[in-house]
Amino acid sequence: MATKPRRFDVCIIGGAGHVGLPLGVTMALGGLQVALLDINKKAIAQIKKGRFPFKEEDGDVSLRKALKKGTLTALAAPVSVIAKSDVVVVVIGTPVDEYLNPQFGALDQVIEKYLPHFRDGQTIMLRSTLFPGSAERLQRYFEKKKLKVSVAFCPERVIEGKAIREIQIMPQIISAFDKETLQRMKELFAKISKGGTVVAQPMEAELAKLYSNAWRYITFATANQFYTMATERGVDYTRIYRAMTDKYERMQSLPRPGFAAGPCLFKDTMQLAAFNQNHFFLGHSAMLVNEGLPRFIVEHIKHRLCNNDLHEKTIGILGMTFKADSDDTRDSLSFKLRKMAKLEAKAVYAHDFYHKDPSLSRLDALLKKSDIIIVATPHKRYAQIPKEKLKNKIIVDIWNHLPYTKTAIEL
Ligand SMILES: NC(=O)c1ccc[n+]([C@@H]2O[C@H](COP(=O)([O-])OP(=O)(O)OC[C@H]3O[C@@H](n4cnc5c(N)ncnc54)[C@H](O)[C@@H]3O)[C@@H](O)[C@H]2O)c1
Repeated sequence: MATKPRRFDVCIIGGAGHVGLPLGVTMALGGLQVALLDINKKAIAQIKKGRFPFKEEDGDVSLRKALKKGTLTALAAPVSVIAKSDVVVVVIGTPVDEYLNPQFGALDQVIEKYLPHFRDGQTIMLRSTLFPGSAERLQRYFEKKKLKVSVAFCPERVIEGKAIREIQIMPQIISAFDKETLQRMKELFAKISKGGTVVAQPMEAELAKLYSNAWRYITFATANQFYTMATERGVDYTRIYRAMTDKYERMQSLPRPGFAAGPCLFKDTMQLAAFNQNHFFLGHSAMLVNEGLPRFIVEHIKHRLCNNDLHEKTIGILGMTFKADSDDTRDSLSFKLRKMAKLEAKAVYAHDFYHKDPSLSRLDALLKKSDIIIVATPHKRYAQIPKEKLKNKIIVDIWNHLPYTKTAIEL
């Protein structure tokens, strides 16, 4: 058995998660001595065997390389590795509760829990998206505890599932409260990324990350509202989209309609709203549009595609993860769609290639039994379903994903 290094350049609290693990692997491949610390024992055991606990492009290959190099250690305990590390990265997020208020407690609890292991001279790098002012609050907390721990905030901006590739090419926003810590962050990222660094004040960096996510969420909502507006009037949005974007550069940034979900965009838009005393009309409107889309689809099927006999029909939902070709179901709107469809249809079946769940059906069985097929998540493999298997079915394909759907709505 390989012996554990005595010292680490970096320890990542939450190192088995979607942000922590790709970052840790990339740092280890960059030659840094890295400890991944996580309470998820199952994920840690998998990582030790060289397997990513979730889907990540080139994940397993890179992880095995890092383990072989001897620069990566995965641990569920002991937390004493924190004291042995120069930089402690924390990727514990700030969720929003059922009343859409940010729960600052999650980060505070982790810091308090591990406080006895922090020591003078360390840097704590916050990497998850934060409520504005969190980094400063943490810096003051350490000062009150008479610990010379410097705080940096360097937000993660990768696309989930392609993190290892993107970290290496993407510019990193770095922020801290003193020049030495900023320099330390610059040198750290220079070892793993060719994208360079962008320096900001901590509050600027916190807002830059939240604005970026809210911007994406609002953009998706715009596309979704355009789609519902046209569809309600029986106008084919796919054709409108094509008319707007074909050979016209200025409209290329308009996304296609579809479920805007996942663990970040909704939460961060609501965090920003809370930060602005709930005066964030665009953000709240985006939430209403995006979160309202599953209900819109069910209503649309019921009243326009089914002559009000949906209660006699069966629905098959394709895709339960929050985005295409991912295995992540966190905050996926497919589950909301299934709940609402169950209120109206005779039966509802659902399928996913990447998410295993006893409540899901096999693809063939679903296709055989369903009168109506909804493409909820545009996994690439759904585009390969033979056309004859969808014959005589009502297809709802907001993404316009299936190659043979004549319009976005019906075959
Ligand atoms: N997923 C993304 O691509 C992404 C991108 C940018 C920013 N973010 C931000 O990063 C945050 C984290 O997201 P994620 O997707 O990595 O979440 P995640 O759930 O995949 O990872 C968090 C990890 O922290 C671990 N953890 C929780 N409490 C712990 C503790 N006390 N000690 C040690 N480990 C602990 C969990 O077991 C989990 O493995 C989010 O809140 C989000 O703001 C995520």
